Amino acid sequence: PNVNEVMNLHDFEYIAKKILPKGAWAYYSSGADDEVSMRENHYAYQRIYFRPRVLVDVSTVDTSTTLLGTPTSVPFYVSATALAKLGHPDGECSIARGAGKEGVIQMISTLSSNSLEEIVAARVPGATQWFQLYVNEDRNVAFEMVRKAEQLGIKAIFVTVDAPSLGNREKDARVKFEGESEVQKSNDVVRSKGASRALSSFIDTRLTWDDVKKIKQITTLPVLIKGVQRVEDVVQAVDDGFDGVVLSNHGGRQLDTAPPPVELLAEVVPELKRRNKLRPGFEIFVDGGVRRGTDILKALALGGQNVRVGVGLGRPILYANSAYGENGVRKAIQLLKDELEMDMRLLGVRNLRELDETFVDTRRLLGR
Ligand code: FNR
Repeated sequence: PNVNEVMNLHDFEYIAKKILPKGAWAYYSSGADDEVSMRENHYAYQRIYFRPRVLVDVSTVDTSTTLLGTPTSVPFYVSATALAKLGHPDGECSIARGAGKEGVIQMISTLSSNSLEEIVAARVPGATQWFQLYVNEDRNVAFEMVRKAEQLGIKAIFVTVDAPSLGNREKDARVKFEGESEVQKSNDVVRSKGASRALSSFIDTRLTWDDVKKIKQITTLPVLIKGVQRVEDVVQAVDDGFDGVVLSNHGGRQLDTAPPPVELLAEVVPELKRRNKLRPGFEIFVDGGVRRGTDILKALALGGQNVRVGVGLGRPILYANSAYGENGVRKAIQLLKDELEMDMRLLGVRNLRELDETFVDTRRLLGR
């Protein structure tokens, strides 16, 4: 179908399934084991109900905010996903252009199919890009990546920590990895067991808090930890002086039955408050299963007045890019932005600062 006929983010998934090569679909769509976390990431949002406020003048609503100090047109960003070229020849570059033109921040994966230089060159003037780091066993390689990112005008580093081993993605493993040119460092890549396996050589099983703290010392950029999955580790990130965390289970691709990030968020925010760990400037991001404007507003409401919350999108952007390139990415963003504006009116909020815990009912989510 024509890109203008796409009505919501679910449509992009449906279209991507039809048009993508089998291997690409398997790599993008798979989750770990029985895909419980992958499903629950999305369904958890549906266990939160709104508490809409009526009779508010909502003639103008404003979806803009700042994330890590950068102005953005919407409270969501494009999360890091590997191998965009499996789905579209322009790879991460068309994602950069599409996101940039819509005023949306792009997080660039260490395992992108385009080089970092190419993706930075595709950056729209004034747009912001972040860099996601997989810490190489050779620390100098990782440090070099961070320095290069900083030189290239990247605005934040997200160290992914939920992948000391690769998750068991069976759908993906069944399809022989045929992505010859898509992987940059293709020499040491094993192609027989799916794309994910092929990438596992870039992952260090020995990574600890001390290693990640070292990364903070070699850069002036904000450093955040991506893939935090329990309250205690959020507290540790606060105590160690990190600039934030991404509550994420990697889109359900790593440890199956790890908690849905929005459920964790509902636990983390009150707990940080209780332990007196709220620090201005410490931002909390969530990703996984976000498909609707309502999902985004729920996450922001849970952060309330206490914590700045940003929301990441993975697969929907890959699917949109695969089907329509830059125009698909723009359309996906526009659809979500339109939903956000309509939902804000219906919820009775004029700007995102007004959102707080009173706008959500979490009784079904938290079982109380
Ligand atoms: C990812 N994700 C990911 N994360 C990361 O830190 N580095 C990476 O290279 C990748 N690669 C990647 C590839 C694919 C195909 C997917 C689907 C995901 C995880 C990603 O950043 C994010 O956490 C999830 O995608 C969020 O879940 P949704 O939005 O896909 O449901």
